[in-house]
Amino acid sequence: MRIAGPATVVVTGAAGMLGRDVVRTAPEWAAAVPLTRADGDLSRGEEAREVLSLAAPEIIVHCAAFTDVDGATRSPEPAWRSNVTATRHVAEVAALLAARLLYVSTDYVFDGTSTEPYSEWSAPSPLNPYGASKLAGERAAGRAPGSLVMRTQWLFGPGGRNFLRAILEAARAGKALRVVDDEYGCPTYTPDLAVGLWRLLETDATGIVHLTNQGACSRLELAAAAVEEAGLDDVELTGIPSAEWPSPTRRPRNAVLTSDRLAEIGLRPLRHWREALRDYVAALRAEWNGGGAGDLTGG
Ligand SMILES: NC(=O)c1ccc[n+]([C@@H]2O[C@H](COP(=O)([O-])OP(=O)(O)OC[C@H]3O[C@@H](n4cnc5c(N)ncnc54)[C@H](OP(=O)(O)O)[C@@H]3O)[C@@H](O)[C@H]2O)c1
Repeated sequence: MRIAGPATVVVTGAAGMLGRDVVRTAPEWAAAVPLTRADGDLSRGEEAREVLSLAAPEIIVHCAAFTDVDGATRSPEPAWRSNVTATRHVAEVAALLAARLLYVSTDYVFDGTSTEPYSEWSAPSPLNPYGASKLAGERAAGRAPGSLVMRTQWLFGPGGRNFLRAILEAARAGKALRVVDDEYGCPTYTPDLAVGLWRLLETDATGIVHLTNQGACSRLELAAAAVEEAGLDDVELTGIPSAEWPSPTRRPRNAVLTSDRLAEIGLRPLRHWREALRDYVAALRAEWNGGGAGDLTGG
């Protein structure tokens, strides 16, 4: 009699902000195999095939990506290599091994001109090279039969540099803050998203699924909530239009994601971002108070 063990789940980009939490939150049914750039550059076909095949995954969670949005605008080639070429390689291996592929994607596939939130059925129309490369990555992932595209947005979490960490560190250093007040999204906490991702894998869903923490806000509202949560109320916080923010990149203004599919799949939405922010700030405070990384699990 064959006793089924846990499924082997390769997690690419495992040193990144989301990848770390995905590995850390793996449920009992999954044996997570973390892959980082040190294990292989997935944009190189031979390396990708070798490192992925060796792990013999039943599932591949593809978090690896080029995520420097302004860097992609200045020089699109490296973003294309990591987001499209690498994904093509990952999808080819997934197809060859009959492994299920989950590709993590972004609200930046939308132009943000709609006054309504974007659902899985909305037509993508990226404004910048990063968004274009992620959309092409979605299409490359589609080459693997039964693949899943999980779109998310505005990530913050313990394992990486992100908007909130930058805001809170600047506020703590007593700097006056200028924050864009005309970009809207759903802030999403990577420990929550990672748990949601595993739940998604427990369904037989295929195609595109949007997953974020609940609730939308502007960047300024998010910064204000974080500063308040951290008790740094003295900081000077000024809203500015995105046109005044020094960046070479056109960003979507109103790319708020919503999901028409979660209920159909039988998944509960993630908690509200405001609750997740409380956990994130508590963990950051513990880190600042010399308590190491503190409890960063986010519940
Ligand atoms: N951050 C956000 O706000 C956000 C929002 C929506 C969607 N997403 C998506 O969520 C996913 C995870 O994002 P994240 O913020 O966690 O990213 P991250 O922290 O930048 O981590 C990405 C990881 O992928 C690795 N990587 C990049 N190219 C690679 C390659 N060719 N071969 C092997 N490894 C490679 C990077 O290694 P190096 O550091 O060595 O390059 C890095 O460790 C990405 O698909 C991203 O597009 C992110």
